[in-house]
Amino acid sequence: MKIDILTLFPEMFEGIFSQSIIKRAILDKKVEINLHNFRDYSKDPHHKVDDTPYGGGSGMVLTCQPIFDCVEALKEDDSLVILMTPDGIPYKQQMAYDLSKKKHLIIICGHYEGFDERIRSLCDLEISIGDYVLTGGELASMVLTDSIVRLIPGVIETSSHQNDSFNNNLLDYPTYTKPRNFRGMEVPSVLVNGDHKKIEEYRKEESIKRTKERRPDLLEK
Ligand code: ADE
Repeated sequence: MKIDILTLFPEMFEGIFSQSIIKRAILDKKVEINLHNFRDYSKDPHHKVDDTPYGGGSGMVLTCQPIFDCVEALKEDDSLVILMTPDGIPYKQQMAYDLSKKKHLIIICGHYEGFDERIRSLCDLEISIGDYVLTGGELASMVLTDSIVRLIPGVIETSSHQNDSFNNNLLDYPTYTKPRNFRGMEVPSVLVNGDHKKIEEYRKEESIKRTKERRPDLLEK
């Protein structure tokens, strides 16, 4: 898979893509991630990428030209263009699964007070990572990239994400490791008795219980 990210702040991504699972996925060539500063595509003599809004109002608005030119330079037949924006579709684990099967994603990070409405016409999908407003789409695109890359076959063991929270609309069951007793808190005995059928039942029950308590909205689905 190839992911091209359009941002005015490519340095923000340095940490996240050079650590842990994403780093390994890149080294193992499971994913290629490229950062593009769309300021480089600006035809303005001062490389301006924003301007004042028509009709007045506060703040600056990202202009069409640099983003259009950058997307058009990167786009291939099988590309999916995604815009990160708080008014996009709420992001869900199922979308991460669907996107992890794509060949090429182009992700646009909005910034400042907003972007020219016509930029939406470039995009196949608009995604919000939650009902709050970030200073830009950078953090949102990192969330998107991280959640997608871990699902690319071979990046982590399939069994590690088979039981992820949100699969089958259930939260994950509780897990424990050594020691068996930590400050008086015991590991449930069913997990140490070696009866795999019982362990499976226990995990399923705990998963449903936890979902009922914390996210009853998921069970309604
Ligand atoms: N840009 C700013 N806020 C955002 C959000 N909540 N989701 C996606 N992109 C954003």
